[in-house]
Amino acid sequence: MSDFFESLDFGMVTSVVYKIISLFMPVALFLSGTSAAELDYSDKLGDSGYTGLYEVYEDYFPIGSAVSSGLLKDSQCSEFVLKNFSSMTFEYELKQPIICPTEGGWNFKGADAVADFAREHGLKLRGHTLLWGEESPQNWMVYDENKNLVDKETFYARLYDYFSVIIPRYDDVVDDWDIINEACHWDYSSRLHKDALYKICGEEYIYKAFEFAKEFVGENDKLILNETKVLNNKAKENNLYATIKAMIEKGTPIDGVGIQCHVDTLSFKETARRLDSIIKRFSKLGIEIQITELDMTAYSYDAQKAYDELPVWVEQLQILKYKRFFEVLRSHSDVVTSVTFWGIDDEHSYLAKKDGREDWGLLFDKHGNPKQSFYAACDF
Ligand code: GLA
Repeated sequence: MSDFFESLDFGMVTSVVYKIISLFMPVALFLSGTSAAELDYSDKLGDSGYTGLYEVYEDYFPIGSAVSSGLLKDSQCSEFVLKNFSSMTFEYELKQPIICPTEGGWNFKGADAVADFAREHGLKLRGHTLLWGEESPQNWMVYDENKNLVDKETFYARLYDYFSVIIPRYDDVVDDWDIINEACHWDYSSRLHKDALYKICGEEYIYKAFEFAKEFVGENDKLILNETKVLNNKAKENNLYATIKAMIEKGTPIDGVGIQCHVDTLSFKETARRLDSIIKRFSKLGIEIQITELDMTAYSYDAQKAYDELPVWVEQLQILKYKRFFEVLRSHSDVVTSVTFWGIDDEHSYLAKKDGREDWGLLFDKHGNPKQSFYAACDF
């Protein structure tokens, strides 16, 4: 049953197709006795004495979540983080527009608070993210005072100085660094986005950024190239693969790939089978695989009408997808070295604020209670 759903590939599936599936889904699940039973964890709901997520996964990989200093100030949230996660990532306070909006204008407050929490409680921390061309096109690093792109030497000097401050400040507590975020292009017209960084340096900025970072990180730290929508988009997967291969061939110090995994529950492209083949493919390059931003939106695209409540058939698909994803991740625990969710629960998730509608993308509900998807992910 699940194989049937996972093997479908409609490409850009329309809402009409979803409508049909929504009618078909309960019947299909009902008819496939094993799957229906397999997806029913309702008897477990409401158990406040459940084992925390990271403990369940102790023998496999650390489990993390994206957090902000504001979230950690809330004692309920910080206790929840300590119960369920052994690792954290900076939700936004390490990003250049926040931590250093102008040249030399450092604003360490938020990132320091997150790092201090990790130090105090012995949690692992991901350094997300040092460079992100697409999202920071207007930043001081790439423009001069007349808003013209700077030359390559000026950009590299600024980048090097930036790394020389930010990396040593958090290196005692950060083990994995997302050196660059979302560099690869969506189609085959170019391997990398033609953003400001590319316009100044061509592909070379990728190699340089990793080389510069290597000078400042600790000996055992991992340098990661983090990418979005890899499961969804074959061109992106191939561009990412080719980029990493070129880096390795040039001797660039890259240790791993970050597969973000902001996944659509309803996507027939973003399947456990795809995840499995991507992990196999990339790990053959001799690098670590890190799942860096996992969540599963209940919607298929931004403009989709908001649900009043989560439809049962979507919930069932999410339970199924989380179950299969975690089966795949466990089966590759020799190369998957961390799994991080983007948010802690359905209340504290970027999906909850997106497009002004409610969403249900994580393993815990709005009150921090484990959902059926949680029990599915922990069922082994
Ligand atoms: C991207 C980024 C993250 C965060 C998420 C959700 O995937 O890598 O830093 O912004 O989107 O907004």
